[in-house]
Amino acid sequence: MVEKVVSVNPRQFAVLGNPVQHSLSPIIHEQFARQFGHSIAYSRKLLQAESFAQYVREFFADGGGGLNVTVPFKALAHACADWLHESAEQAGAANTLVSGDNGIEAWNTDGAGFINDLVGRCKFTIAAKKILVLGAGGAAQGIVGPLLDSGPASVTVVNRTPSKAAQLIDRTALKYADVELRAMSLLELDTDGESFDLIINSTSLGLDGGSVKLPPNFAVGAFCYDLSYGATAAFAHWAKRCGAEGVADGLGMLVEQAALSYEVWFGVKPATKQVYQLLSEQLQGSD
Ligand code: ATR
Repeated sequence: MVEKVVSVNPRQFAVLGNPVQHSLSPIIHEQFARQFGHSIAYSRKLLQAESFAQYVREFFADGGGGLNVTVPFKALAHACADWLHESAEQAGAANTLVSGDNGIEAWNTDGAGFINDLVGRCKFTIAAKKILVLGAGGAAQGIVGPLLDSGPASVTVVNRTPSKAAQLIDRTALKYADVELRAMSLLELDTDGESFDLIINSTSLGLDGGSVKLPPNFAVGAFCYDLSYGATAAFAHWAKRCGAEGVADGLGMLVEQAALSYEVWFGVKPATKQVYQLLSEQLQGSD
């Protein structure tokens, strides 16, 4: 990408969500901006669904530089865009908005951010692996396509509401005919006979302090990745206790998706390692 011109005045950026006060995005993007000497002002904006689209239009009409979008507005961000990058189209949701040649442009950097962290930092090889995805909501939607692009042997999506898992698989099945794809409820999973190389928690259960009830032998020999981070990463904590082969929480994905958003806005990709370390130390200190 070509680096875009950045004005001397701080350009306005924000993350839109509800709740949004906990978001680490302002800290991450301020660190990125320092790497390039960019002058940005990045804030958190608490919104209601009814005012989302109007806020986005006015933000860009006023010359805003870019927006991140978090729960629960990613589908609305997709819906209000004038143009969709294929990442947003594939996920049916967007986490990054920018004003460009096509009007308001929407991207989804969650999936690529997840893959960058899993492969780059965690050193996990996806090709030919058996993958179990817990949950079939917005977070799962963002990662399943990019996972399938990396050529696993199989992807099994397990969800409390099995029809949502089936929809997720049906949407992708045609494009990935050579991967074994299954959708089921937790009860249907053969907990004695099955094993997986990678187990990903995409459910929001950790927000309530819970975790999907899997037998501990599932974690042993598997890499367990929790898309939640910090105190809500109950699945990662469970996997550690069970002696999983490897464990990661969603902090790495958070930093990587942010770096890709930054690249959408500025045309340059920030380094992520030190920002990840900084946040990791801060979160450990606040546990
Ligand atoms: P997100 O955007 O974070 O993925 P979401 O779209 O609301 O949020 O999806 C939440 C996921 O967590 C879903 O897979 C949901 O299961 P259902 O589709 O059956 O609702 C799952 N989830 C939330 N609470 C759960 C619980 N108590 N037990 C099991 N799964 C739960």
